[in-house]
Amino acid sequence: LALLPLAGKRVLVTSGPTHEPIDPVRYIANRSSGKQGHAIAAAAAEAGAEVILVSGPVNLPDPPGVRVRRVSTAREMLAAVLENLPVDLAIFAAAVADWRAAEEADAKIKKGKGPVPQLSLVENPDILATVAKGSPRPRLVVGFAAETDTVLEHARAKLARKGCDWIVANDVGKGTGVMGGGSNTVHLISEEGIESWPTMDKSEVARRLVARAAERLREDTP
Ligand code: C5P
Repeated sequence: LALLPLAGKRVLVTSGPTHEPIDPVRYIANRSSGKQGHAIAAAAAEAGAEVILVSGPVNLPDPPGVRVRRVSTAREMLAAVLENLPVDLAIFAAAVADWRAAEEADAKIKKGKGPVPQLSLVENPDILATVAKGSPRPRLVVGFAAETDTVLEHARAKLARKGCDWIVANDVGKGTGVMGGGSNTVHLISEEGIESWPTMDKSEVARRLVARAAERLREDTP
């Protein structure tokens, strides 16, 4: 049990960005390498869990021992996540685009023909909030918060708004090197308070988060 703390558990992880098409050659996306999410999926598999990784477009190999479902848009990501419930633990590390183009053009929008195109946006579904407030709810729901300012304040508000149990907040502001980099500085925010972790490799953040989640799942096993 100590060696495989997530044996017998089902874990779902989202990772990477989503791409929201404007026309066949253009899209809206957030910056995300997928490194942190993929590392979490790998760590959960190492801990003995059955892991499903729902990933947006990334340039990373599939983590060993993990079932990978590749998607492109937020709506596809939501559908893939819902198809794979129920799970014991869900960790939402994907950088989902908040908006998509209201209409996707069938052909490439040409430049220089008339006025500059105006994009009309509509909101994407919030995958984390849908799962955290839905049923069957995973026993532990963990969100990420990438903020460039007042990281902790925003993260606490997010915990309440989204209905998740934990938020892993990281500062992705200019000069932190988090985006695409190998290391991360995070704060784990729960009802009990805030734990600030030292800067670590993303794989180390993943292992530590998985270990904490396994402890929590053990606590509420009767
Ligand atoms: O609101 P914000 O995008 O900052 O929240 C970040 C958290 O919510 C992350 O865990 C992210 O994966 C999740 N999220 C989501 N679906 C969205 C937007 C964010 O699952 N449409």
